[in-house]
Amino acid sequence: AKKRGNALSEAQIRFFVREVASDRASDAQIAAFCMATLLRGMTDEECFILTDAMAKSGELCRRPSAEGVFADKHSTGGVGDKTTLIVGPIVAACGVPVAKMSGRGLGFTGGTLDKLESISGFRIDLSAEEFFETVKKTGISVIGQTGNLAPADKLLYALRDVTATVDSIPLIAASVMSKKLAAGSDKIVLDVTTGSGAFMKNTRDAKKLAKHMVAIGNHAGKETVAILTGMEEPLGFAIGNNMEVKEAIEVLKGDGPEDVKEVSVALAGMMLSLGLENVSHSQGKRMAKKALSSGQAFEKFKEMVQAQGGDIRYVEHPEFFERDAFEGEVLAAEDGFLSGMDTEKIGVAAGLLGAGRETKDSVIDMSAGIYLKKKIGDTVKKGEPIAICYAGTKEKLNRGMAMFESSIRYSKEAPRIPKLIVDIIR
Ligand code: URA
Repeated sequence: AKKRGNALSEAQIRFFVREVASDRASDAQIAAFCMATLLRGMTDEECFILTDAMAKSGELCRRPSAEGVFADKHSTGGVGDKTTLIVGPIVAACGVPVAKMSGRGLGFTGGTLDKLESISGFRIDLSAEEFFETVKKTGISVIGQTGNLAPADKLLYALRDVTATVDSIPLIAASVMSKKLAAGSDKIVLDVTTGSGAFMKNTRDAKKLAKHMVAIGNHAGKETVAILTGMEEPLGFAIGNNMEVKEAIEVLKGDGPEDVKEVSVALAGMMLSLGLENVSHSQGKRMAKKALSSGQAFEKFKEMVQAQGGDIRYVEHPEFFERDAFEGEVLAAEDGFLSGMDTEKIGVAAGLLGAGRETKDSVIDMSAGIYLKKKIGDTVKKGEPIAICYAGTKEKLNRGMAMFESSIRYSKEAPRIPKLIVDIIR
């Protein structure tokens, strides 16, 4: 029916999700459903039902009711996007509990779980009880879709990652929102990315996706706000799992790249304004900045790592993180300005270096990735380094560097600097 462009009935959607969650649907059938949906789309009604069925495909987190207002955030994916590692601790340090279920890398984008697992010992597979116990004790926990939480999304997500079926508005909306509804938080802030490094390449589509997700959240009785953020270039300088954790630690210590700080503060400020009474977004942002400069957010991150079994020495001494055996400088091809990046290609380049998965079962190289030395608007001289690539083998290094090189554009005149906070959808 979907292949022919028909709307599916509620019974058909619920049947499909049941078959997926109970492992009766084959990978081929699930992938066919995803491709048909990507090509044919869904009505709002179908998308509501798909989200609800996926959220209820496993156990819903039943958290203790008397613990106050819980806040959650989710990004629709980006390159170099390490904001969860910063936003979660800020918000928890300011007194709003954060119970977050994150994902792995998807397509050309990185995933918070993969990043957290680059900290030796860090457990993302807490049970629902351990999850809420950790939130109660430390104010924050970030876990994967383990146990039996939205298992239908877990299966669809892994197959979409390797079948080029990620960039579908109904599939993204249902994937993100099913996890958010299943995880049991009261307030949801969505970071909907837009630009060459996002699944939504233009603001119009990003707004459409944001409106869909905000409607699904509010329909389910959870106050939901989306911030549209620009992804015309990677966020920060680091792309790759342990390199991104190191950069997040710099920001948590009050340093680090300005763009990472700006987006993190905007998201955290919004979570605080939803989670606390009589706090505006501007006041929330001020609180967030203070949590960073005072070191409280960094302390909260350490508490979370410790509570989830991570080796705290990596956080205190980021030089503990390993570097890959092979590294290579990418040199500027022209004089002038770095005027643009095909950021999706940069995500693919990081994957080729070893930071992402080629198949569902690929093992990630935590130390592989790219460190940018120049961003859009910077002046460049032909032959000077614009980035350093890291990989575990020479072959991976060469493939990744070639892909990265092909993503860069130059100009003689100063380019327009892309906006970071594009819009807010309530
Ligand atoms: N993040 C998700 O959790 N799901 C998607 O489909 C895209 C981004």
